[in-house]
Amino acid sequence: MLDSYNRKINYLRISVTDRCNLRCVYCMPENGVPLLKHDDILSFHEIVTVTKIAVQKGIDKIRITGGEPLVRKGIVDLIRMIGKIEGISDFSMTTNAILLDQFAEDLKKAGLHRVNISLDTIDPEKFSQITRGGDIQKVFAGIEAAKNAGLEPIKINCVIKKDHHEPDALTVAKFCDENNLHVRFIQEMNLEKGDFSVVHGGTGGDCGNCNRIRLTANGMIKPCLFSDIQYNVRELGAEKAIDLAVGNKPQSGHVNLTGKFYNIGG
Ligand code: 5AD
Ligand code: SF4
Repeated sequence: MLDSYNRKINYLRISVTDRCNLRCVYCMPENGVPLLKHDDILSFHEIVTVTKIAVQKGIDKIRITGGEPLVRKGIVDLIRMIGKIEGISDFSMTTNAILLDQFAEDLKKAGLHRVNISLDTIDPEKFSQITRGGDIQKVFAGIEAAKNAGLEPIKINCVIKKDHHEPDALTVAKFCDENNLHVRFIQEMNLEKGDFSVVHGGTGGDCGNCNRIRLTANGMIKPCLFSDIQYNVRELGAEKAIDLAVGNKPQSGHVNLTGKFYNIGG
């Protein structure tokens, strides 16, 4: 699919839940957030239907996100269902890895190719502060399990405040170097204020070369993280929602007043 600025759209990011087992300070308020109602969340069948149509229309790269995708009940079954769709050349997941230790092997068997793991520091105390209570040992175990399962290449998403020379970023870079992981630095963003920038070492935030659309857990196709434009797959059908999103994808992002990272996916 080509959008109206001649960008080739071949990447669909699917948020499967707005829930998370962490409360990262830059993502969620301490006491959590009003969550989507069960009925509003797309079923696996609905997600697979949208994905099939998207692949028929030219999507060949799929990423599963959240919230935290591994807290969605039956996630391995969904991965297996999507893994069977012909025409996907890159099938990945973004996870905080807290539960990855127990899921890695099954995810690989179900057809997932690789994972991106969020890790902003390698200091256990600081990790617990940033995530409001997360246990970094579980993340280390998750990384190990992902390696053993062959969910590679493994990329590490490191959110930074200013630049990738700040102390935590440097220790994460060193850790990645020593452990054969690919680090990407993501400037902390503010959707409401429209603060965003390119992902250092990755492909996000570069509007001129953006190839993505998103499907939210409640069935909205969104052409841009930094825009409120969205089309409801339940009301319009997947084909029309995708066509409208691609046709109205903004040239560059601006602000997003309605969505959050935990319900659109990072
Ligand atoms: N700015 C930048 N990245 C964010 N993420 C969540 N909230 C923000 C924010 N405000 C990132 C997470 C994770 C991905 C899903 O999105 O760190 O790597
Ligand atoms: Fe959860 Fe990811 Fe948000 Fe942290 S950044 S609270 S791990 S969804």
